[in-house]
Amino acid sequence: MAEVIVALDTRTADEALGLVDELGSPAKYFKVGLELFTRGGPAVVHALRERGKRVFLDLKLHDIPNTVAGAVKAASALEVDLLTLHVSGGRAMMEAAREAAEAVPGTPPRLLGVTVLTSLDRGQLARIWGRSTDDADGGVEEDVVRLAELARGSGLDGVVASPQEARALRRAFPQPFLLVTPGIRPAGRAPDDQRRTATPGEAVEAGADFLVVGRAVTGTRDPAPSFQAILSQVRRAHSTSPEAGVP
Ligand code: C5P
Repeated sequence: MAEVIVALDTRTADEALGLVDELGSPAKYFKVGLELFTRGGPAVVHALRERGKRVFLDLKLHDIPNTVAGAVKAASALEVDLLTLHVSGGRAMMEAAREAAEAVPGTPPRLLGVTVLTSLDRGQLARIWGRSTDDADGGVEEDVVRLAELARGSGLDGVVASPQEARALRRAFPQPFLLVTPGIRPAGRAPDDQRRTATPGEAVEAGADFLVVGRAVTGTRDPAPSFQAILSQVRRAHSTSPEAGVP
């Protein structure tokens, strides 16, 4: 069954851990992103591991192969389960990351590629990569699939993608290639600043293995029942679409 990862987008480690304790044992995976990691450091990851939680460390690494390999080794020693890096860092960088993850004793983190940031549109992509806007027409999904292919060929375990791209990616890359989708909103909840959202059920049906959920849990008055409601929607989607998600 697809797993739900709660994004700990809090300002302090105390706030984050308070939320973790409030959600209790049904919540197994937590995302630590750049802000929380920069503020709380490895201590936040240690505190989560001590509570028996699995960690998605979303650092979106992007540097020369040697530097990324060093960071991947350090993250692997923290016993994180999932770690992100930018596919645009290139094959050598991703291969170095793979090798570094395997070199640390214990279970290596699963490495996820960031393809095209969802904050970028076609026009911005065209300007960044020096293409004419005509060339970029209809090109975002094509770019995402091409970069996912490069990620897979370089030894990564999967990619992060919006639920809309998940369907095309799943068609091109069957399991066990992992699809991790943020932008999840239960039916009826406002999209906030997200533009390409899907309900938990839609994300599961599109083939997501992990759903990253932030404000739909953390921004509610009662996070624990909000989380349970999302879990029920995931379960329901699996029962009506049994081939979806990781078994
Ligand atoms: O609050 P919300 O559910 O929108 O949070 C989603 C989480 O997923 C946030 O931590 C956000 O940074 C992250 N994310 C995203 N879109 C991406 C990649 C990561 O929303 N493309």
